[in-house]
Amino acid sequence: MNQKERFGIALVGCGIVGGGTARLLTEDQNFLQERTGLPLVLKYIVERDYSNARALGIKEDLFEEDYNKVLADPEIKLVVELIGGLTIAKKMMTKALEAGKHVVTANKALLAHYGPELFALARKHNVCIGFEASCGGGIPIIKALTDGLLANRIEALFGIVNGTCNHILTEMTEKGQSYKNALKSAQAAGLAEADPTLDVTGMDSAHKITIMGSLAYSEKISLETVPVQGIDTVDLYDIKTGQELGYIMKLLAIAQKTDKGLALSVAPAFLHKNHPLARISGAFNAVSVYGHAVGHTMYMGRGAGSSPTASAVVADIIAIALGVTPQAFKTLTFWPDLTADAVQLPQGELESRFYLRFMVQDRQGTIARISTILSKHSISITSMLQQEGETDSIPLVMTTHLAKSGNVQEALKEIASLEEVENKPVSLRIVEEYPESVS
Ligand code: HSE
Repeated sequence: MNQKERFGIALVGCGIVGGGTARLLTEDQNFLQERTGLPLVLKYIVERDYSNARALGIKEDLFEEDYNKVLADPEIKLVVELIGGLTIAKKMMTKALEAGKHVVTANKALLAHYGPELFALARKHNVCIGFEASCGGGIPIIKALTDGLLANRIEALFGIVNGTCNHILTEMTEKGQSYKNALKSAQAAGLAEADPTLDVTGMDSAHKITIMGSLAYSEKISLETVPVQGIDTVDLYDIKTGQELGYIMKLLAIAQKTDKGLALSVAPAFLHKNHPLARISGAFNAVSVYGHAVGHTMYMGRGAGSSPTASAVVADIIAIALGVTPQAFKTLTFWPDLTADAVQLPQGELESRFYLRFMVQDRQGTIARISTILSKHSISITSMLQQEGETDSIPLVMTTHLAKSGNVQEALKEIASLEEVENKPVSLRIVEEYPESVS
């Protein structure tokens, strides 16, 4: 290999994704060079704890603790940040950009919080940021949004973008597993974040919809404006009852264009069992994107894990080394540092179908009182299910036609105050297949 042509790479962090990236870059170095013509060389791994890398058989001479020495090496063109978290990762990324190195990252939290600032810094130093691995693991969804779908005005984007949650919901749905056991198996499979709270509270999906939505609509979405509900409060009873009614529960991240602005949300929702996203199970992720010219496109694959995410990291390295990303970074106008704040649909204006569950005392007139309140708030019922119970407290499940979410919240507040209604009512969206329209 010609020393002058080497494209030096430094990897910061050698955990699950870092380990997979190190293996892909070293074990497949010749294959990558043959396929791309690029002499990609992993020169340093910056890490204090080498145990994972050692276990993977990665050469000891790659390890380096002195980050300043790495950044001072002119052969290093690109730094891969895979330590995760916000504070140290931000410092290390900032230093890399200031040193004139391109950065590739899988850190969706960092980009969702500080994307505009980091992109502006990269632009100032004439380098770019690759972030394919930040959304959907190995699925090339960022490439689709920033390349393959460029001719489209995006109308809607629906994603199952958290492998941990999808694994948990699948285990609960298909095997009737408890939430706790399903979470343990997701962690054992290496899907969950270091702190799984980010996964199960929906925050990880919120990070991803912030990133994908901003690109899709050329508008800056602020993370704190995305309404987020996780799967940590989901009840197995609702999963099972939804299933009896023909629905599958998924954690959906949604960014949908409406006449009054962008409707954003992350929440567990029911999909009809024939909905294309209902079949995405286990660790798999999928993103459905609807464009005015192309219609419905769907991207599916492993959304987490060592080697699938490393596949996205290495694709970014290649696109930067080829000059494709630097060119796109200079020319295209939708990067987070260049766009204006998103106009959002006021909360409460969103129209959806709903699944409602009330725990009620089995008394004469209960259903009549509940349905009167629903009707007063313009909510029409499509189905109702009440099961005989051995105790006085029984579940009453209803599904609705399209209703405004604000009306539903108002109605639920009123219903919750009825004497015969126990506990807080449960409401979950029923998301129907988006009507594809190709112009
Ligand atoms: N914890 C994430 C997930 C990893 O479960 O999908 C990929 O971002």
